Amino acid sequence: MEFFRGKAVYITGGSSGIGFAIAKLVVQAGGSVAISARGKERLEAARADLSAIARGDQKVVAIACDVSDPAESRRAAAETIAALGRCDVVVANAGVAHCMKIADAEDEAFERMMRINYLGTVHTVRAFLPHLTERRSGAIGIVSSLLGFMGTYGYTAYAPSKFAQVGFAECLRQEVLDKNISVTVCYPPDTDTPQLAAENETKPPETKAISGNVKTLPADVVAEAFLNGIAKKKLNVVPGSMGKFTHFMKRHMPGVVNWVIDGDLKKYQKKHIS
Ligand SMILES: NC(=O)c1ccc[n+]([C@@H]2O[C@H](COP(=O)([O-])OP(=O)(O)OC[C@H]3O[C@@H](n4cnc5c(N)ncnc54)[C@H](OP(=O)(O)O)[C@@H]3O)[C@@H](O)[C@H]2O)c1
Repeated sequence: MEFFRGKAVYITGGSSGIGFAIAKLVVQAGGSVAISARGKERLEAARADLSAIARGDQKVVAIACDVSDPAESRRAAAETIAALGRCDVVVANAGVAHCMKIADAEDEAFERMMRINYLGTVHTVRAFLPHLTERRSGAIGIVSSLLGFMGTYGYTAYAPSKFAQVGFAECLRQEVLDKNISVTVCYPPDTDTPQLAAENETKPPETKAISGNVKTLPADVVAEAFLNGIAKKKLNVVPGSMGKFTHFMKRHMPGVVNWVIDGDLKKYQKKHIS
């Protein structure tokens, strides 16, 4: 975590879950943070918690912002740079989940996932890019998901928004190569956060039968793996051994992965649907 000492880091969705865990590790490492989210109460509580562990001239700033709005994202970038003096690392983490059978989902859910998860990432990165480009230095971190490289039952609205972030990141990586800006994508498996708890409420039993095999990670484990990856300028970070194994298998033996998850699904359907 030495990389983050003295660094100025902006984190969307920094009021909860993985985003808050990222902010906490940066502050513990001696960096300054600007966290953003929509809900002001939770944002202020997170700012107070982070301020309590900040030392010396470390700064902690909270900025209310809806990442799905490009103008708000530009305002948040300007406020971050004014408050911290500069921005070294931008983390596009804010996101919402949706897990439901395609037939049960509202039309609006498909658009909301793209607006917040995908376009929220685009607006955040574009808001900071002129600053990073001018400084010819910086790092961009994007929180996708295990569902950003494999789709499973119940995630027809969510997974495409996470795949889209990966396509964006791969193009961006090459565009900023000559500007000394790195791009890192994180692919967390199920992580113990309020989002996962909310997602579990609408999760079809078929999805539970499949994802029950993937171990849930604590948010700080995901955050630490991601921040280490950003420090090493790695393009892809898959936290946890099960996630790494799934990523490897999906790339090299996709048929085997589908055979395993289809097997879990068929076993469930045979037992419960006659
Ligand atoms: N938890 C998991 O199992 C898991 C697995 C893979 C990937 N992920 C990804 O990890 C990221 C963080 O998720 P989490 O589990 O930590 O969720 P979380 O605890 O619910 O936190 C989500 C954060 O994003 C903010 N947010 C949501 N919509 C926003 C918007 N339109 N504009 C600005 N901020 C917004 C929330 O604050 P407000 O609601 O107040 O705005 C909150 O601070 C997401 O991109 C998610 O898809 C999570």
